[in-house]
Amino acid sequence: MVLFKEMLGGDESIFKNEDALDFEFVPKLLPYREQQQKHVARCISPLLQSRSGTNLFVYGSPGIGKTAAIKWVFRDLEEETEQVASIYINCWHYDTSYKIILELCHELGYRFTQNKNTGELFHVLKELCNQKKGVVFCFDEMDKLEEYDFLYLLSEEIYKKSIILITNYKSWVLELDERIKSRLISEMLEFKEYTKEETAGILKERIGYAFVDGVWDPEAFNKIVEQTAALKDIRAGLYLLKEAGREAEGKSSRKILASHASVAIEKLKEFRIKKTEELRDQEQFILNVIQTHAPQKIGDLYKLYQQQGGDATYKTFQRKIAKLADNKFITVQKTSGGAEGNTTLISCIQTKKLTEF
Ligand SMILES: Nc1ncnc2c1ncn2[C@@H]1O[C@H](COP(=O)(O)OP(=O)(O)O)[C@@H](O)[C@H]1O
Ligand SMILES: [Mg+2]
Repeated sequence: MVLFKEMLGGDESIFKNEDALDFEFVPKLLPYREQQQKHVARCISPLLQSRSGTNLFVYGSPGIGKTAAIKWVFRDLEEETEQVASIYINCWHYDTSYKIILELCHELGYRFTQNKNTGELFHVLKELCNQKKGVVFCFDEMDKLEEYDFLYLLSEEIYKKSIILITNYKSWVLELDERIKSRLISEMLEFKEYTKEETAGILKERIGYAFVDGVWDPEAFNKIVEQTAALKDIRAGLYLLKEAGREAEGKSSRKILASHASVAIEKLKEFRIKKTEELRDQEQFILNVIQTHAPQKIGDLYKLYQQQGGDATYKTFQRKIAKLADNKFITVQKTSGGAEGNTTLISCIQTKKLTEF
C-alpha cells in the first residue's frame, strides 16, 4: 500500500527487535547486577547437592532489576539441571494461599486440581516437590499478598528448597511481622538504584538488541538517559526508547533525533498517570483523600479517610501511606519535639513535577 511505502519505504524499520524493549524481556547479560546474581545463586546452590537452600529477602525500589536478576538466575539454573525446579510467581496475580498453591501445582505439571481444597492441593504439592532434588520458589511483589499461610507451609513441609521473596517497599520489610521474619528469612539482599552511568550502560545495551545500528543520534540518547536517571526506573527508559523510535518512524526519519526524544518524554506523563491508575482501589482512594487535603498530619488524614467511608485499620492506612511514599506519589515528613510532640506530615507530589525533571 502506498501509504505505508511512503513511511520509510515499506519494510525498512529502524527497529531490529522491538520486543527487546518489553519490560518482561530478559537480556542475555544483566550488567551491574553480577554481585546480586551471585548472592542469589549462593542461596540456591546447596540444592544442587540435595541439601536445603537459604531463604532470601530481596528489596529495592521499582524498576531496578530485581525481577530481571532472579529470572536470569532461574534461566541459568534451568540450563544447568532439570532436577532442581524453579518457580516464579507474581503475587499481583496470585494473592491467596489457595491461588498460589494451585499455581505451584500447575507449574509442576499437575493438572487434576479441580474440586481440591487448599489442604489437598498442598498435599499434592508436597509430594511433587519432595520428589525433586530441590525447588526454588520466588514470590515477587509479595507485598500484594492477602495471606501468608502458604509460606509457613512451604517453609516447614518442603525439605529441600529456597524461598526468595521480593518487594519494592523497604518500609514494608521493616514492618513485616516478626514471626515471618524469624521463621522465613535468613538473608536480606538490597538492590540499590543505578547510577547515571549504569543507566546509560543498560540503555545502550538494550539499543543494541532493539534497534538497527547507528539510528540513534547521541543527543537524543543523552536526553533519554537524563530522564531515566532522574526517575531512577529503567522501565521509564525502555518506554522512552520505544516511543522515540516510533515517533521517528512516524516522521519517516532514518535517525532518532533529539526532537523525537522530546516527544517521547512528553508522553511519559501519560505513563505516570497510567501507573497511578494501576494502584489498587484502596491505595487510589487514600491517594485521592491526600490529594484533596494535603499537606496534613497523618492522624487527621486518617480521620478524613474514615469520614469518607474508608474502613482500613490505622496500621493498614500507615502501610499504604508508606507504599505511596516509596512510589513517590507523596512525601512523608517526620517532625519531633514541636508543640504537639511527634507528628508526621503528608504532602502530595504532583504528577507533573515527577515527569518534568
Ligand atoms: N542491569 C540491567 N541490565 C539490563 N536490563 C535491566 C537491568 N536492570 C533492569 N533492567 C530492565 O529494566 C526493567 C525493569 O527491571 P525489573 O527487573 O522489572 O525491575 P524491578 O523488579 O526491580 O521492579 C526490565 O525490563 C529489566 O529487564
Ligand atoms: Mg519486579
